Amino acid sequence: MIYGFDHVEFYVGSAKMVAYWYAKAMGFSIAGYRGPETGRKDRISYYLTKNKIKWVITSALKPNTSDVASFVTLHGDGVKRFSVLVDDVEKSFSRAVQHGALTVQKPYRTEDSHGYIEEAFIRIYDDTELGFFNTAHYKGLFKPGFDKPIQDFVIQCEETGLEAIDHIVGNVREKEMDRWADYFNKTLDFETFIEFGPGDISTKYSALLSKVVRAKDNVIKLPINEPYKGLKKSQIEEYIEEYHGTGIQHIAISTPNIIASIRALRKNGVEFLEVPATYYDELRKKKFKVTENIDELQELGILCDIEGQGYLLQLFTKPIGDRPTFFFEIIQRRNGAQGFGQGNFQALFEAIENDQKKRGNW
Ligand code: FE2
Repeated sequence: MIYGFDHVEFYVGSAKMVAYWYAKAMGFSIAGYRGPETGRKDRISYYLTKNKIKWVITSALKPNTSDVASFVTLHGDGVKRFSVLVDDVEKSFSRAVQHGALTVQKPYRTEDSHGYIEEAFIRIYDDTELGFFNTAHYKGLFKPGFDKPIQDFVIQCEETGLEAIDHIVGNVREKEMDRWADYFNKTLDFETFIEFGPGDISTKYSALLSKVVRAKDNVIKLPINEPYKGLKKSQIEEYIEEYHGTGIQHIAISTPNIIASIRALRKNGVEFLEVPATYYDELRKKKFKVTENIDELQELGILCDIEGQGYLLQLFTKPIGDRPTFFFEIIQRRNGAQGFGQGNFQALFEAIENDQKKRGNW
């Protein structure tokens, strides 16, 4: 049984500075720490939380003794792994392996005076991992090895209201998408929820294909993108070249009030993709009743995709690190909207292509 996303671990060049950025810009609390002072000599990790979202931000202390430094050299800062919360690690892991999952780490237990945690990992994409995580027998902060931060971080920022992980998206090479969709469906007992074929997601110049797999009770959603031929380089190809492999492209974070969240994130210095003003003229023409003020959506650059009786509000950040690879999506689902903003793809991809041109990857 999978209950939902638990936490995401990022490998980065300097954990302390990246943790500070998440606190200052995204409104996370720096709640925990693991490093030499807590008995871990080869790496530093900060544990950050914001409502239901949990990050681990890790960097290497030594050049050769861990996978952290080699990951960052090859990929730049990125998502190394994400874990899902399960009731039985052994059972979830064995089921996955029996159905073809690639083993990274068999089930193991770590303990301290607060109890024990069980974990296991399978490989996904080129160099990413999916973890099974069970916290039922642990009363501590996060997991053994983590303690309260050794330094008091007093960081002021605007309240962002970010709530939970909505979905985690992977980018793969041409003709690999079906294989990874099958992999998740077989090993985790997921199902394909939505498919976007040729022509569904394209601009005049570039295109991609996408499939969304999900847990049958919808607690986990994992879209997978692959590039599709176009006149120019697809944004997925750009990602794979710059990341030097396949991996996590973006994490969508939900909020109960996207207007307040985007206003706060912008004040905190987070940069977002810019949507052309004509987008809002089109939205006004649709005469669909949205609770939010369209002028306010336009002022903040928030996109709105109508879906039957419901609608979805969303906005994408620019890549958050140095390479044009990983970014965030901020999302609010209204009246049961289940989609991924397909009506916004055109406007969004034109915005991404403008940035690609500026980078010379075009
Ligand atoms: Fe998304």
